[in-house]
Amino acid sequence: MTDSHNDWWKKAVFYQIYPRSFYDTMGNGIGDLQGIIDKLDYLNDGTPNSLMVDAIWLCPFYVSPDMDFGYDIADYCKIDSCYGNLIDFDRLLAEAHRRKIRVIIDLVLNHTSDQHKWFIESRSSRDNPKRDWYVWRDGRGSRNRPPNNWKNNFFGSAWAWDEKTGQYYLHSFLKEQPDLNWFNPDVRKAMFKAVRFWLDRGVDGFRLDVAHCYCQDELFRDNPSIFHRIRRVSSNRFWDRPFVVNLFQMLELPELQDKIYSRHHPETHNVLKEFRQVLDQYPQKTSVGEVNSEDSAIVAAYYGSDNDELHMNFYFALAQCRWKAGAFRRAVEKWEQSLPKSAWPAYTFSNHDIMRAISHYGRKGQEVQRARLLAMLLLTLRGTPFIYYGEEIGMKEAKLKRSEIKDPVGLKWYPLYQGRDGCRTPMQWTAGRNAGFTEAEPWLPVGPEVDQRNVATQDQDPASLLNFYRLMLNLRRSNSALQLGTYASVVEGVPADCYFFKRELDGKCFLVALNFSNGRRETDFRRLANNAVLILSTNPARQTGSSIDKMTLDPHESCILDISE
Ligand code: GLC
Repeated sequence: MTDSHNDWWKKAVFYQIYPRSFYDTMGNGIGDLQGIIDKLDYLNDGTPNSLMVDAIWLCPFYVSPDMDFGYDIADYCKIDSCYGNLIDFDRLLAEAHRRKIRVIIDLVLNHTSDQHKWFIESRSSRDNPKRDWYVWRDGRGSRNRPPNNWKNNFFGSAWAWDEKTGQYYLHSFLKEQPDLNWFNPDVRKAMFKAVRFWLDRGVDGFRLDVAHCYCQDELFRDNPSIFHRIRRVSSNRFWDRPFVVNLFQMLELPELQDKIYSRHHPETHNVLKEFRQVLDQYPQKTSVGEVNSEDSAIVAAYYGSDNDELHMNFYFALAQCRWKAGAFRRAVEKWEQSLPKSAWPAYTFSNHDIMRAISHYGRKGQEVQRARLLAMLLLTLRGTPFIYYGEEIGMKEAKLKRSEIKDPVGLKWYPLYQGRDGCRTPMQWTAGRNAGFTEAEPWLPVGPEVDQRNVATQDQDPASLLNFYRLMLNLRRSNSALQLGTYASVVEGVPADCYFFKRELDGKCFLVALNFSNGRRETDFRRLANNAVLILSTNPARQTGSSIDKMTLDPHESCILDISE
């Protein structure tokens, strides 16, 4: 429990690695731990020629049947042989630490794989000692329907029928991912033992998978349809008609259900407090939560009442804004205002579950400009930035054929939704075969436009996106006002569809000026500061280093100015 500026994770820039897609050294078309070791210098070789990131977050590499690509864990303390083994992991940790890169790992507490020995025992009989480690319920009514109407987060009911023992078990994701019963103290003990296992090995912290899902309503009440909200605010009786209500309940889409009884249960916060107590027994560890809610106050609650839960939480609204300066500004302000005092934000625009930001926000001909703007925003906001692998070279979302899809979500909804594989394609190291990722057949096809969007090519071009990221990271690292300074939106004197804000610490003040529009924007900096020195622009042709009074921002151009008194 600390609000000290010395916490390494507040100053850090994190880089998210999806191990399966980073670099293959075993020749099986799947990335591995040795592959990550081989690329550590790219991430940080101690010089600004590398990205100089401070930490990496590794997505799951544990033993898993890979129904959900590692998020269905069959052994929390072993590495899946397709990635390597514990010796490789220890070497990865040592090599990362030698380069001053900290390592956090994914912690999937909500569910295990159905192949985990705990679940195999649990489902073996109703009186097995591990029966209560998972959530088992009788069916409802004479037709033995599922215990309630809860939907899982992918598709269909959250309940799976177990023929042998004649009960349903809860699964908030795939049926191969049964939910643990976090009300059971033995589950807590066993899971925290696994947490200690990794802390004892020297990991620097954890990313907590679906940290809002651990506990559910003990009465197992039905979730209302999201239309109950409409019914509350609408005076039209149409929404009250049983057939309308039933229709929406019947549809399988999980998002049509307001999961008030299956998410954000108060007991989940107690689990996180206990987790934090374990973490705090080790010095300088950190945690970041994946918490899904559009309501910033609900997400903010995961910091705890006294910063005694998670150190950071992602607020995903920023990854889903409309491309409007005001929309981004309001999302940041909302998040800033919702956070408890001294709570520290985390920001990301892309990850392994959502469309890559360059494709989500990009428009033909403007993709790279928008990607540069997003990079500047991500790396100048108050909070810890998380860069998703390949974002720094502008890797785009891949379009896959049905036969190429691996993600179960995509397989179910294709072609309406291709699932999450498009953002998980192999890292693009070179313009050569398989983008230099593997000698074998890659597990997913390589993404589009590899000839330009790869590390080797962009490394050679001083004006590339990669080199822009390197500049930005270096700038951030050498200015504590950008790392730790206060945040304040600027509203007066800001041109239309621009988002300006200040970061300030100990007399040093930066102005970040982002032009979200497709037009040129005249800006009079004298209205904003006595003196403004242009430090960095997303336009590589700009002359930096001298004072400027007025400037015309190009379409999507963004800059950082030193406006210290
Ligand atoms: C999280 C992960 C996602 C996974 C799900 C179930 O949302 O990020 O990839 O499918 O949890 O574990």
